Amino acid sequence: MAGGKGTRMRSALPKVLHPIWGRPLLGWVISAVRDAGAERVVVVVPPDAAEAVTAVAGDAQTVIQHDQLGTGDAVRCAMPALEGFSGDVLIVSGDTPLLTAELLSGLVAAHGAEGAAGTAATFRIATPGGYGRVIRDAAGIRIVEAKDATAAELAIDEVNAGLYVFDADALRPALAGLTNDNAQGEYYLPDVVPAIAAAGGRVSASLVADASLLLGVNTRVELAEAAQIIRGRILETHLLAGAGIVDPATTYIDAEVELAPDCVVHPFTILRGTTRLAAGAEAGPHSVLTDATLESGAQAGPFAHLRAGSHLHAGARVGAFAETKNAEIGPRSKVPHLSYIGDATIGEDTNIGAGNITANYDGVSKHRTTIGDRVRTGSDCVFVAPVEIGDDATTGAGSIITGDVPAEALAIARARQVNKEHYAKRKRDA
Ligand code: UD1
Ligand code: CA
Repeated sequence: MAGGKGTRMRSALPKVLHPIWGRPLLGWVISAVRDAGAERVVVVVPPDAAEAVTAVAGDAQTVIQHDQLGTGDAVRCAMPALEGFSGDVLIVSGDTPLLTAELLSGLVAAHGAEGAAGTAATFRIATPGGYGRVIRDAAGIRIVEAKDATAAELAIDEVNAGLYVFDADALRPALAGLTNDNAQGEYYLPDVVPAIAAAGGRVSASLVADASLLLGVNTRVELAEAAQIIRGRILETHLLAGAGIVDPATTYIDAEVELAPDCVVHPFTILRGTTRLAAGAEAGPHSVLTDATLESGAQAGPFAHLRAGSHLHAGARVGAFAETKNAEIGPRSKVPHLSYIGDATIGEDTNIGAGNITANYDGVSKHRTTIGDRVRTGSDCVFVAPVEIGDDATTGAGSIITGDVPAEALAIARARQVNKEHYAKRKRDA
């Protein structure tokens, strides 16, 4: 269910699209559902953000809920997509990114073991606030929304997590009979419980001990809380898989980043997007890498900014205050200091002097700079692309290189120095 408005986020972006470590909220939920082994995934999307939410849903099926008439209506909208399916229907909220595959498959297993027509996940909470209260009796359970509850019911500390498994054939007729005769004038999904009971089915409650897994994101405060928990999980997964992370407290790693065993991530480093570090590669300290690839022994940092498409081959190095983008840095080549290398290909064993710039953009299009093997560029060179520097070439410090440089040549492209002798004395005497 991702059809709600998410007004409490106070954001123009639909709630389920807010990113957590490079993956939208909804993406976390879908990946947990998939990892739990769901055969088919149907996502209920809001009409005003249908396209964007559909894009995030990937290969899941989507259905638009045209009016936000409540959670019961949301599920009712999804059922035609499951026509002919009779089996377990797992229902999750699109705003609960901390759900794990283990929790979900455990719930499905508990449902099967009980032989119930429905199973609702519940948890205990000291201040149950707006959660639906769970009332257990001999016949099974009832769920009462806070706004419809009596004072005695409000005192109950076992609440509805909004996470359920239903037998599809029991769910369908129960949904068809829902009414919106309640305090909020909504079609409540939990109202299928008495309907299933009336039809002779039983709905049981499965108490989840670790309530933190069920955290729902309604505000940016909760989004930040969820992100911190997921950050810890990502770091722990990489550490257990053998990646070296010197200071997890100052390291931020996106969901899709791949770290090989024995890479090293130094403090204050952010690895974003699809960044990949091979064994022996090192990133940081104080570096930001986005969609970058570091092969074995490659190093980025300290203070390096690697943007999308930066590819450091084995043993290559990008150092302090250097920015790269869409750049191949060949084996053992170095961009050690104060440079911008964009839309460039650099060969092997080349050294880029301090303060070099590839001028890749003429205001209209981007152009490529190609630098060969074993090239030495002087400090403060500008390469006005498109331009090609041959193998074993050298460029003089301060050169503005506008034309190709042949292999083995030295290119100097700067004004000659002129010394005006006795200048100071002439000024004094004037
Ligand atoms: C719901 C439950 C409540 C439970 C709580 C747990 C109902 C009536 N109440 O309340 O018992 O304790 O979750 O968090 O179900 N959505 C739609 N379409 C709609 C309305 C909601 O898709 O018309 C989606 C939302 O996007 C969200 C989910 O359903 O992902 C839950 O909706 P929300 O409004 O947050 O329900 P709660 O009031 O929190
Ligand atoms: Ca909610």
